[in-house]
Amino acid sequence: MSEQSLRGDLDHILITQEQLEAAVTVLGKKLTREYKGSAPVFVCILKGAALFFSDLLRNVDLPLTIDFMAISSYGNSTKTSGVVRILKDLDHDVLNKDVLVIEDIVDSGLTLSYIKKVLIERGARSVKLVTLLDKPERRKTDLEVDYACFIIPNEFVVGYGLDYQERYRNLPYVGVLHPKIYQEEA
Ligand code: IMP
Ligand code: MG
Repeated sequence: MSEQSLRGDLDHILITQEQLEAAVTVLGKKLTREYKGSAPVFVCILKGAALFFSDLLRNVDLPLTIDFMAISSYGNSTKTSGVVRILKDLDHDVLNKDVLVIEDIVDSGLTLSYIKKVLIERGARSVKLVTLLDKPERRKTDLEVDYACFIIPNEFVVGYGLDYQERYRNLPYVGVLHPKIYQEEA
């Protein structure tokens, strides 16, 4: 087995570990300032946002609570199906809470539009959307993302939580998957 097996499936690295760390630190400080006086709920959208979420939390100095939600919109494909379903719901209610939804990547925007709508219906005081990566070219809704660390081109990326068929989440950087890996699907 090659030591470089995961890295070998990438065409190139798009965002390095150092760039990720720097952006997450800046965002954590910004949220600390902007939510001063509030005790917000940070909602992690599983599984993709898990690494970003845990790194971000360590950079936020607020009396926050955390919760988790799992949504399905893609199945095993690299293309969106447009179908959004809650696989795991929040443990606590969000009535009168300031909620920050933490996502790995916004692509069509369908997942976050749906989540935002649900949280507002449940009586959250505010709902803001935070994403590590934003692919605005692919947007299919007029969704407004409140905080995005990196705007990226329309390429399929993996690593730092993002997967292709549940793999590559453990790469410490974000890379563009080599098309040969998913060509069989087309
Ligand atoms: P949206 O509803 O189309 O915005 O889809 C967002 C979800 O699609 C993300 O949370 C990811 O799980 C997945 N996704 C979209 N683009 C990529 C990508 O380039 N790599 C890995 N997952 C992606
Ligand atoms: Mg996701």
